[in-house]
Amino acid sequence: MSAHRVPETERNPAVSTPPPRTPTLPFAAALDAATGSVSPAALLVERRVSDLAGLYADDAAWQAAVAAGDPLVYRVCIAPVPEVAGEVPFSITTIEAGAIGGECFMTKGHTHTAHEGEVYIGLAGRGLLLLFDGAQARQLELVPGVATYIPPGWAHRTANVGDDPFRFLSVYPGDAGHDYEWVLRHGMGARVYRDGSGQQVVSTIQS
Ligand SMILES: [Fe+2]
Repeated sequence: MSAHRVPETERNPAVSTPPPRTPTLPFAAALDAATGSVSPAALLVERRVSDLAGLYADDAAWQAAVAAGDPLVYRVCIAPVPEVAGEVPFSITTIEAGAIGGECFMTKGHTHTAHEGEVYIGLAGRGLLLLFDGAQARQLELVPGVATYIPPGWAHRTANVGDDPFRFLSVYPGDAGHDYEWVLRHGMGARVYRDGSGQQVVSTIQS
């Protein structure tokens, strides 16, 4: 059967007028669970200890870590998908193994500025997904073979609770938006510490 070109007026009939921008074309990206790379990638974001000011409970330990070389905590390799409504961006985050004052290396954490959810899929290592809606806190194990769902309205942060780099794939609506200030002001309702036998979750919710 021969293919034919669909007239402009018959394409995507359920979609109203799209925003005036260059259309995104279909593409495949290689995801490397061993390195955390996405190829092709549009952007690589790196966060060091100094980028996490005000987020760790032990400020003296945080300052000491900055002074002692300011190591890399995590990086995000982002696929070339526009962050606009209708698109579905994705990225791989790698959190190194480590702790500050016993508190696990973690992402800054954020809420979405729009009422949108997100999916995290474990790729390598062992992580914990922290969720907080301002009243309730939840923690979910995030390891290879597990997909975790972040509902709209829940702030989210990930922490590396293992001894190797922890990697996960994020898939989110393009118009979700990122608000980091909310977590800086309100926290995540819990903190994750490492001890000899594993991780320990300490609630920080005030009654
Ligand atoms: Fe998010």
